[in-house]
Amino acid sequence: MGSTRRVRKAVIPAAGLGTRFLPATKAVPKEMLPVIDRPAIQIVVEEAVAAGIDDILIISSPYKKVMEDHFDRAFELEARLAAKGKDVEVEALRAIGEHAQVHFVRQGEPMGLGHAVSMARRHVGDEPFAVMLPDDIMVDGGLLLRGMIDALDATGRSVVALKEFPLSEISSYGCAAHSPVEAGSPLVSVTGLVEKPRAEDAPSRLAVMGRYVFTPAIFEHLAAIEPGVGGEIQLTDAMDRLRQAEGMSGYVFSEGRYDIGQKQDFLRATVELALEHPELGPEFARFLAELARRRD
Ligand code: G1P
Repeated sequence: MGSTRRVRKAVIPAAGLGTRFLPATKAVPKEMLPVIDRPAIQIVVEEAVAAGIDDILIISSPYKKVMEDHFDRAFELEARLAAKGKDVEVEALRAIGEHAQVHFVRQGEPMGLGHAVSMARRHVGDEPFAVMLPDDIMVDGGLLLRGMIDALDATGRSVVALKEFPLSEISSYGCAAHSPVEAGSPLVSVTGLVEKPRAEDAPSRLAVMGRYVFTPAIFEHLAAIEPGVGGEIQLTDAMDRLRQAEGMSGYVFSEGRYDIGQKQDFLRATVELALEHPELGPEFARFLAELARRRD
């Protein structure tokens, strides 16, 4: 059971179509939409690095080549900026791919999230790894993911991030049955998992969020399952098998997550990150306060 090796690889499935943000995502992948001055996928990569990960595999699709360019060096652009003395901008460009190796593999046929993760099998090999869904942005400096990695280190069991939602919203998510939440500990034992249940069938109000830390055994279960909800190979279905075989922890959290696949949350993430921004924050806060006064 489990593994003694520290998690150092993350897999980011980024092959989805992004239909909710059309027409913005007609020619630009949704993962490249900027939150202030960074594309969403860069924020996720920086979170991984902050949690101690230095090897990232992005599951991409044929229409998303621009993501590969983003994490590549841009020598000509760097040289031009350097010639103009724009050192800060040069540093910002270099920093993008500096702290982690970013690799790509293409999903080819889109057959669901579980299928996308299974594409990482060769790259990950026989070690524990993280999965990070790029629609979920965490504004927490890698705290949640680090906590999950520590939990896998301590127990050898896979860990899934869980957040409480109203029952009326549970059908948008994977949902976990679990042992009682104990004061002072974020960890619960996961006793069942079901993908997008109807409210009346939901085993709890804890929904699966897009951060996972798995033992490599998840790949055997992904290879063994049949298509589930929506005719897709569901990661949640493979996780339920993994849970039965090895046990699984849930890491319950409440703060810092934005679903930037939703327009409302995309706006919230932009505003909160702008308020925290060292240069933009103070003036933007004054602007928001003034705007709120005018609209009262
Ligand atoms: C996916 C997962 C689901 C999870 C959700 C988190 O669903 O299948 O279990 O709760 O991400 O954002 P999707 O949003 O891709 O439909």
